[in-house]
Amino acid sequence: MDIKFIQFQTHGDDRGSLVALEDHKNIPFTIKRVYYLFNTQEKVRRGFHAHKKLKQLAVVLKGSCRFMLDDGKEKIEILLDNPEQGLYIESFVWREMFDFSEDCVLLVLADSFYDEADYIRDYDKFLREINDSTKI
Ligand code: TYD
Repeated sequence: MDIKFIQFQTHGDDRGSLVALEDHKNIPFTIKRVYYLFNTQEKVRRGFHAHKKLKQLAVVLKGSCRFMLDDGKEKIEILLDNPEQGLYIESFVWREMFDFSEDCVLLVLADSFYDEADYIRDYDKFLREINDSTKI
């Protein structure tokens, strides 16, 4: 599986650091929704879904967490601990997030509004849909 990180330009000076995120400049889609996870409790594992259409970019603003991405063929674990980079997550990728540090603030940019109909929350259904879409 191709894991895509987007490296952001950081505007830094002796006051600190600043990163700007802009549609179709450093973000490869039109940002329709922004949400963030914080106060995640110890040992929590969340996500457990894929999306049919949605594309997202995950940025850890503070702290760290791990992602497990699974395209139905391969599972890859990724540590996010750098606010200067974003993890691009395409549709039809199963994701789980875990190992949240106590101070973790995870920002997610999405190319669509929240739509429960776009979720695949059953792993076997996810595998079936992946296999159906790769059949000629
Ligand atoms: P959930 O899908 O369980 O989050 P995760 O993928 O991290 O496990 O979402 C938690 C709740 O928040 C659920 O009731 C749906 C709601 N929610 C929204 O209302 N809007 C959103 O953009 C998102 C991502 C979730």
